[in-house]
Amino acid sequence: MGVIPIPSYFISESLRQSTFWLRIMKEHLLFIRLGLSCDEQALRSEAQRLENEAARLLDEARRLAGAPSEHKIFEFNRSVIAFLTKVIEFKSLVLRTLVCCKVRAGANFPLLLDHIRREAIHFRAALVRLNEKIPVGPVEMFIQEEVFWLRIMADHSKFIAHLLDPSERGFVRLATDFSGRFDELRFHAEDFETMLVPQIFENSQLPDAGMPPRRPAVFGQGLPEPYNVGSLDRFAGETIAATADLRDFKRTARDLLVACRVLSIIDPLLADHVLREAERAIEDFTILRRCLPAPCGARPPVDP
Ligand SMILES: [Fe+2]
Ligand SMILES: [Fe+2]
Repeated sequence: MGVIPIPSYFISESLRQSTFWLRIMKEHLLFIRLGLSCDEQALRSEAQRLENEAARLLDEARRLAGAPSEHKIFEFNRSVIAFLTKVIEFKSLVLRTLVCCKVRAGANFPLLLDHIRREAIHFRAALVRLNEKIPVGPVEMFIQEEVFWLRIMADHSKFIAHLLDPSERGFVRLATDFSGRFDELRFHAEDFETMLVPQIFENSQLPDAGMPPRRPAVFGQGLPEPYNVGSLDRFAGETIAATADLRDFKRTARDLLVACRVLSIIDPLLADHVLREAERAIEDFTILRRCLPAPCGARPPVDP
């Protein structure tokens, strides 16, 4: 009997990223198209064209998962990175036309455009790191993912609060409470960021901190190496619990929308989309928490 080869981290992580995020990108392009005013034919057809491209790449990712190889995945990642560059440009264009009042207001909030562009940038950065073999330490990776996802979860809560019918007071209040809870958690994650990984803060101060993420040779020089503390692990538990609460709220909202038992202008697909992102956030937090090094020291016992 032949031995089934275990896919490398490069292969399994590339496919984990692409099979999840390409579906998300496809849906973003649908949401943009549905949210544009009907006068905006050129932007609507560009959204449709990119949506078709996302669907094609998603099919290819699923096909590749059946018989992957390092070379095929490397080439596929390259084509997805090129696609994401176009998607990010398009989202930037739509955002700019909206905030500069060049188009009639539709149903796309500017913060939604910024939010879905952040998701595209995050996905592209993950693929660039994999293809270029850019090492990222476990504490840095964990905190970056926390800051990214906690902001995404806070944004979702805000979108839900604003898209529910104002008469749905109880649900609007619940969504607003989640927004405050996740804003606070993100501020906490940002405190950990500068406390434990000052390199990230330095990177954000550099003019070339964008893409491609090549760090200059002086990057991080003279700054202490990242390390883990017990309170970061406690924080990881708190964020997983909060995200699980929000996931349950989103699931209830999605089910009520499908059953036509709540008043809102939320498409059930959007409700399902944000639910899947909460599930993914929990998955990412859980994977990265396991990779954290042991926390530094323990306090000596207190004398009685
Ligand atoms: Fe999304
Ligand atoms: Fe999102």
